[in-house]
Amino acid sequence: MSIFFSELIKKVYSKVEEEFLNHPTDHDFQHIVRVYKMALVLQKLEGGNKEVIALAALLHDISDHKLNGGIINDNGRVAEAILIKLDASKEIVEKVIEIVDKVSFKGANVDDEAGSLELKIVRDADRLDAIGAIGIARAFSFGGFRNRKMYDDQHSHELHNNFNDYLKSDSNTINHFYEKLLLLSDRMETNSAKKEAKIRHEFMQQFLDQFLKEWNVGNELNN
Ligand code: ADP
Ligand code: NI
Repeated sequence: MSIFFSELIKKVYSKVEEEFLNHPTDHDFQHIVRVYKMALVLQKLEGGNKEVIALAALLHDISDHKLNGGIINDNGRVAEAILIKLDASKEIVEKVIEIVDKVSFKGANVDDEAGSLELKIVRDADRLDAIGAIGIARAFSFGGFRNRKMYDDQHSHELHNNFNDYLKSDSNTINHFYEKLLLLSDRMETNSAKKEAKIRHEFMQQFLDQFLKEWNVGNELNN
């Protein structure tokens, strides 16, 4: 079976591919493709409207504030314009933009917005791509692109109470695991994603244990 099951999806896929040509590796078109496929796998197991899930997965990062000059929550507006231009029905447009608007993580102490089964599936798929082996690779790619330190044992992590503080944070990459990545498995909403998240979470935990063990080699020499 082809992963494209309607003309609209094929067109949106091509449009997103074009838009993501020059995006950095933590947020490149391959992230979109992985989230798209994972969302379809979850849909098979959990149900939900397949077309809405597919379109929302393709469009969920279409206008990232880190790359669009700092406009926050712009994805819904850009997704809407693309879908309207491609003659999507009003019902589909509304369902997709609601998901795209609500999908983001906004801080450790900020609750996720409630919504449809389709929202839960796309959000779980996006978050699965932020954890596990690929999640680790994306985090260090993000940190490197922004000249961040891998780790700094003088600056501990912070659990953010609002989206603005979370966005302003420019801490080292290991802190990002404690500020976001290690929190995601408990925030998965579908059973199928919870199962996969558990495996990926344990892998990250193992990585962090080993990283800190290597980092701390020789510390005992100071005593
Ligand atoms: P998403 O695609 O899930 O919406 P984001 O836009 O928040 O994710 O981030 C893109 C990728 O960069 C994710 O894998 C995320 O974990 C990583 N990332 C975001 N902020 C940081 C950070 N401060 N340090 C390291 N990696 C980060
Ligand atoms: Ni994403």
